Amino acid sequence: MAGRVAERVAVVLGAARGIGAGIAERLAEEGARVVVGDVEDALGEAVAARLGGVYRHCDIGEPTAIEAVVAATVEAFGRVDIMVQNAGIFPLNELVDIPVEEWDRVLRVNLRGSFLACQAAMRVMRGQAYGRIVLTSSITGPRVVPPAHAHYAASKAGINGLIRAAALEGAAFGVTVNGVEPGNIMTEGMRAERSDDYIAAMAASIPLGELGTPRDVANAVLFLASDEARYVTGTTIVVDGGQILPESKS
Ligand SMILES: NC(=O)c1ccc[n+]([C@@H]2O[C@H](COP(=O)([O-])OP(=O)(O)OC[C@H]3O[C@@H](n4cnc5c(N)ncnc54)[C@H](O)[C@@H]3O)[C@@H](O)[C@H]2O)c1
Repeated sequence: MAGRVAERVAVVLGAARGIGAGIAERLAEEGARVVVGDVEDALGEAVAARLGGVYRHCDIGEPTAIEAVVAATVEAFGRVDIMVQNAGIFPLNELVDIPVEEWDRVLRVNLRGSFLACQAAMRVMRGQAYGRIVLTSSITGPRVVPPAHAHYAASKAGINGLIRAAALEGAAFGVTVNGVEPGNIMTEGMRAERSDDYIAAMAASIPLGELGTPRDVANAVLFLASDEARYVTGTTIVVDGGQILPESKS
């Protein structure tokens, strides 16, 4: 099949809905064989079925679960060309009120999960002398922050450090590691976790005038996962409608 990632084997974690489902769909449209990993089994099965892919239950914070997805992918398709770690959670809480359990939960999914996905993918990709790892970071943490996002911001800033470190180590083996930094994207998670007022305030602060779509982010991931990004590693693409640009409120 022709396409920008034709015949590539892609694992997309956190892909049962939202941005991750958009990424899996975009990669499949461009010819990749897609393995979807998530904890929402019914939704994940449906995404994989729609794309002609495979679904595997995978709690991103669990090393054995990620290793099992990677091993099953290698067994089924012989390789893992593309690893996208997109799973993330974003509870709201003021710093002074964050229970340590909530801090650990956010770091476990967002940062530890990204480390585990990188590690498992890198082990296979080094042997192939080829790989594309793409992590979903955020503008929140690396660049800006709204109130009540301390754990989330710390986890996403950590992902950007991980991207640089992993890219340096992967370079000699033909493995690139990059990320995307979405701004505010309309997803199921956004609708569930954020109020209408929050969403309206965000929309009003975006120069391009509206929240983004999962497909907007997926197009950037597709580029980083493709051979077009051969010479790009250790960096991130901001997909935010210009939200981080304004220097003043007026
Ligand atoms: N929506 C936005 O505005 C926005 C902005 C910046 C960054 N992001 C990031 O994009 C990613 C996706 O966000 P979204 O808005 O699509 O969220 P979402 O809640 O709609 O989807 C997140 C997916 O991750 C899965 N997931 C959660 N915990 C998991 C775990 N332990 N193991 C495996 N899968 C798990 C969920 O089941 C779900 O399918 C997240 O990393 C988020 O931080 C989102």
